[in-house]
Amino acid sequence: MIRLDKYLAEMGAGTRQEVKRYIRQGRIKVDGLTVKCPEMKVDEEIQKVVLDNTTIEYVSYEYYMLNKPAGVVSATEDPRDKTVVDLIKSRKRNDLFPVGRLDKDTEGLLLITNDGKLCHRLLSPKKHVDKCYYAVIDGRVTEADVKAFREGINIGTLDDEEWTRPAELKIIESGNISRIRLTIQEGRYHQIKRMFRVSGREVRYLKRERMGTLTLDDSLKPGQYRALTKEELERL
Ligand code: URA
Repeated sequence: MIRLDKYLAEMGAGTRQEVKRYIRQGRIKVDGLTVKCPEMKVDEEIQKVVLDNTTIEYVSYEYYMLNKPAGVVSATEDPRDKTVVDLIKSRKRNDLFPVGRLDKDTEGLLLITNDGKLCHRLLSPKKHVDKCYYAVIDGRVTEADVKAFREGINIGTLDDEEWTRPAELKIIESGNISRIRLTIQEGRYHQIKRMFRVSGREVRYLKRERMGTLTLDDSLKPGQYRALTKEELERL
């Protein structure tokens, strides 16, 4: 059971204040009867809530896989930029957030949900969940880097060290411009860019391809998204 005003606000019908006003104005029907009391408890599983003439269905959790495009920020709101949550046009709830952050110029897999427990499981460093990236690097990447990344890199300073955990680097192509895949189990601020910058190289392009058991659907173009399938959700 859930309060009627909370039900409506969570489903994005308006802010808590706005929906209270709609209720008092007599714009809400529950099972066909006008209800003017915001505190009324409704059974979200079986009762039918209608605002004006639109049925508002209750959804407890939503899970979307987004192929984040460059230029969009990993936040729920932003005064200047479009956010990853803004891209989820079919969302029903008003409390979705991205599971972790990708930099504004990074593309690829981002899970958007309102499931805080799942978010914690995927992001907690203690859980060792793999995050796999494809990257294009300005400069040559060598077997010495593979070894160094496996051993950990100090992305802090000499005085204030910050060591990364072992990371698995695979070289796809090495040259003046290199292409690599990198798997890390943590997500420090600008981590991959800082890991390469330590040795004077810049990340030109970065895309996340996988997080734990969840792999980016390659039919999704940057900016596109879809709901997770039941199997994907169960595996997570
Ligand atoms: N590492 C980075 O530097 N940026 C990202 O967006 C993700 C990992």
